[in-house]
Amino acid sequence: MTADSLREKFLGFFKAKKHKIVESDSLVPKDDPTVLFTPAGMNQFKKEFMGFDCGFKRAATAQRCLRTDDLDKVGKTSSHHTFFEMLGNFSFGDYFKEEAIVWAWEFLTKELSIHQDKLWVSVYQEDEETYKIWKDKIGIPEKKIIKLGDKDNFWPAEAKTKGPNGPCGPCSEIFYDFGPGAGCGEKICDPSCSCGRFVEIWNLVFTQFNRKDDASLEPLPNKNIDTGMGLERLAAIMQGKQNNFEAELFQPIIKEIIR
Ligand code: SER
Repeated sequence: MTADSLREKFLGFFKAKKHKIVESDSLVPKDDPTVLFTPAGMNQFKKEFMGFDCGFKRAATAQRCLRTDDLDKVGKTSSHHTFFEMLGNFSFGDYFKEEAIVWAWEFLTKELSIHQDKLWVSVYQEDEETYKIWKDKIGIPEKKIIKLGDKDNFWPAEAKTKGPNGPCGPCSEIFYDFGPGAGCGEKICDPSCSCGRFVEIWNLVFTQFNRKDDASLEPLPNKNIDTGMGLERLAAIMQGKQNNFEAELFQPIIKEIIR
């Protein structure tokens, strides 16, 4: 399946669930002094997360992104890029955790037919509600739900202690497992291991706080959803590749360079 058809499938899936399809924002954001480049789909919706009524409560995008934090990893890992596209669905005070989780699972396992055995999830260590949804509603075995802390399962990472200010919240991530032969081979290896066996494909953020100057977390007027899935990672998985650079989006460029 090509990246173009994945993007189309994703936007069509959420359009059918009453999301407004919004164009990707500029890679250089106009009115956001907190970032140099657009690092995520949520950036163009910060006002909506803070309670501004834009006339719709559900949106989906394919956002062009650049993460300065990732640049050191580019060329060293199989899944970090200077530029990438993020597929995201958003709720501004409309649906919350359960729908976001159920729809993400439906998209991956039904629309894309990814076998559920290949998927693991992580939840914020204090977020029992999300743990229960994955375990009881979706039926994920407990050994495949891992609990992580502020660095991995709060977005932005470590926002509680380090900032930036603004909308934030606990998150839950979905990982694809390339199998025991693909990584370190250690008996205990799970999505918290950086050996490459597991790749994070989708981050579901439960955006419910506004982080302030004094590091306090003020509840937002509404509970929101911000999700982001890496198109290049998903395309590689759907094309049977463990390395994004071996998949369809990069191969024509690489072949042209070495020609
Ligand atoms: N904002 C979250 C992220 O970038 C989810 O889209 O991971």
